[in-house]
Amino acid sequence: PFASVELAPRDPILGLTEQYNADTRPGKVNLGVGVYYDDEGRIPLLQSVRRAEQARLEAAAARGYLPIDGIANYNQGAQKLLLGEGSPLVAEGRVLTVQTLGGTGALKVGADFLRAFLPDAKVAISDPSWENHRALFERAGFDVVTYAYYDAATRGLNFAGMTDSLRALPEGSIVVLHACCHNPTGVDPTAEQWAEILEIVKARKLVPFMDIAYQGFGDGLEQDAQVVRRFADAGLTMLISSSFSKSFSLYGERVGALTVVAGNKEETGRVLSQVKRTIRTNYSNPPTHGASVVAAVLNSPELFKLWDEELAGMRDRIRLMRQELVNKVKAHGATQDLSFVVKQRGMFSYSGLSAAQVETLREESGIYALSTGRICVAALNSRNIDVVAAAIAKALK
Ligand code: LMR
Repeated sequence: PFASVELAPRDPILGLTEQYNADTRPGKVNLGVGVYYDDEGRIPLLQSVRRAEQARLEAAAARGYLPIDGIANYNQGAQKLLLGEGSPLVAEGRVLTVQTLGGTGALKVGADFLRAFLPDAKVAISDPSWENHRALFERAGFDVVTYAYYDAATRGLNFAGMTDSLRALPEGSIVVLHACCHNPTGVDPTAEQWAEILEIVKARKLVPFMDIAYQGFGDGLEQDAQVVRRFADAGLTMLISSSFSKSFSLYGERVGALTVVAGNKEETGRVLSQVKRTIRTNYSNPPTHGASVVAAVLNSPELFKLWDEELAGMRDRIRLMRQELVNKVKAHGATQDLSFVVKQRGMFSYSGLSAAQVETLREESGIYALSTGRICVAALNSRNIDVVAAAIAKALK
């Protein structure tokens, strides 16, 4: 029966990691996938996580099934990070949060829910967006369109294009917005620009689906949630996919959450019942370990403080790597001005490298980047940055 099954294309991000893993060259560097490595080139196991894990191990916790929507104080913790302490929306019973399998899981549960109840809506994603956004929403059955976003000439936001395309969307369209640290470009709208985007979303009755996978990697946990809070406080019905993969360095634990802000308390109950149905018919209920650890950190003032500091450490190191990359590429003789790299936010830089230059980097130097030119700055460290900078300077010549 599978004779006509075609070979699927390699995943543009995780497929590159497969290729990287198969590369036997010792000096290889993976700047493809969005993963934070420390200065020793290792994925850190945070102290805050270690302490929570230790306590959990000592408690010899049983591993029964979790509820369909996951661990209650994990969901509350995730909600508080997004909407802030004492959010009136939460008090009004307008918010529901469910534990999901990473941020991708949140997007997928949200997409399946939306497809069941807004089947004719278009989904608009930024041009460019995270590679998996289009694939995921198309798989869920949606017609996916793009709104203008990046301006290659200025290496900044094409704000006029963005607002024009948002205004031109059919009423009721679903619009996927990156709340901070845009993936892949690292270019975010300013607060004033967000205010204008919000007005268009309201006027066109768009349904925002905010993706926030890098909270804490822009300016800080509170600062990076401002856009989410502004949209929620404006009374909009919206969805939010959030992830702790990066901020807790718990990638493989699949720790994410889907939050929905509904119209009123009674509606929230109905939406939750349907979201739970989506989960039950997909994977029944989520896993225990990662979410228990995250919940323990989020709900302990002491561990939370430690985590916040560790996150600041990651954020600062990425900033340092951005600056060093710019300096070193220049020192290696590149004439192009790469100072835009310092202005970009989060883990990524849309470096401006062409697909051909990316290929040269991979073939000649074992340096892996996405063919769009996206590089993960968080994978640079004091040992590999010279080699990477030299190779980029050479590729740019
Ligand atoms: C990325 O964009 O590299 C990350 O979000 C990881 C992923 O799942 O693609």
